[in-house]
Amino acid sequence: MKIFIKTAAMLVCCGLLFSQAFAGEVEVLHWWTSGGEAKSVAVLKNLLEKEGHTWKDMAVAGGAGENAMTVLKTRAMAGNPPTAAQVKGPAIQEWAEEGLLANLDEVAKKEDWDNLVPSVVTDIMKYKGSYVAVPVNVHKINWMWCNPAIFVKAGARIPTTWEQFKTAAQKIKAAGFLPVAFGGQSWQEATVFESVVVGQAGPEFYKKALVDTDPKALNSPEMIKALETFKMIKNFTDKDAPGRDWNMATAMVIKGEAAMQFMGDWAKGEFTAAGKNPGSDYVAVPVPETAGSYLFNVDSFIMFDVKDKEAKKAQAAMARLILSNTFQEVFNVNKGSIPVKTGVSKTAFDDIALRSMDEFAAGAANKTLMPSMAHGMAVSPAVQGAIYDVVTKFYNSDMSAKDAAAQLVSAVADAE
Ligand code: GAL
Repeated sequence: MKIFIKTAAMLVCCGLLFSQAFAGEVEVLHWWTSGGEAKSVAVLKNLLEKEGHTWKDMAVAGGAGENAMTVLKTRAMAGNPPTAAQVKGPAIQEWAEEGLLANLDEVAKKEDWDNLVPSVVTDIMKYKGSYVAVPVNVHKINWMWCNPAIFVKAGARIPTTWEQFKTAAQKIKAAGFLPVAFGGQSWQEATVFESVVVGQAGPEFYKKALVDTDPKALNSPEMIKALETFKMIKNFTDKDAPGRDWNMATAMVIKGEAAMQFMGDWAKGEFTAAGKNPGSDYVAVPVPETAGSYLFNVDSFIMFDVKDKEAKKAQAAMARLILSNTFQEVFNVNKGSIPVKTGVSKTAFDDIALRSMDEFAAGAANKTLMPSMAHGMAVSPAVQGAIYDVVTKFYNSDMSAKDAAAQLVSAVADAE
């Protein structure tokens, strides 16, 4: 008996030692709190926990991560950053410049990221040639999500031009439905705005205006026209739009209360979570006049430099798991995005994702992909904030498109 107890005690002790030696904790700051998003991020948590690590969730609600970024800055300034945080685009470089980030080259080399992930993405993940962030997925921004039953009831056609949009929206309104489910938050307004710019003025113009912030493009007849088209959409939204969360707008399309939503393909995550089928329950088409254009948005995680050896191991495991085939498949099916690496099985993906995969691969090869300004892929957070401010002021007041275009130039100059 004594021997048994002693052995059992030893086993318990060894077990503890074993789990302590191999398990670390990652505290992960992110903004994935909607139905589809939460389901998606749970995939990563489960994979890490299966390897014995602990996931401390630091979810900060708020689409596009504005609130999450405020929390992150506060935590970092207090010298208490999380182990990993969802950060994207040029902001990655800003964090790396602060000297706070972990170098992920070891895992990247072992897992061959350089060869499996397109350079349009790896370039964003590296600082001075070293990986400081892990790419998660690719989202396409310029989608329009439609409830086909409403179109049928209203005798309207799904539009491919803004003129057709007006005709369809008028018919839908006359039939007693809300044409557009709109979320009046500055990031959502910017999301719709940038798609309109691409559609109306073309990809070259988009790059000049919203990537290079060329003053001649920002204040130009093309920009004025795009601003006017953007504002025209407002005629087909409801009075409760201000402040509405994006997933609430998606729910209106899902429930048959509204006919269309302009939103990136994380919206598909909501349709999927609600058990809806693409093609029959809902239809995804390019935002009018943007067929063939691809505004892209890559989610990614930065890791903060931690001293604790076990936490370091957990970070490395998280980085490796994010680019594993299992995670890339399950996460992206739930999230509405597509895998960021090659070699992932396509069988579980629907037609919308397959189309996006083809377009992304073609765009990466011909260098025609456009980084999303609204989703932090194109300009610094300060410049993005300046553009948000003008766009939202214009959308929510009686400011003229001409004045808004002029203000874009001065606001961007002040922020640069
Ligand atoms: C984007 C992000 C997506 C999605 C969306 C809404 O910026 O890349 O993954 O979460 O915000 O929150």
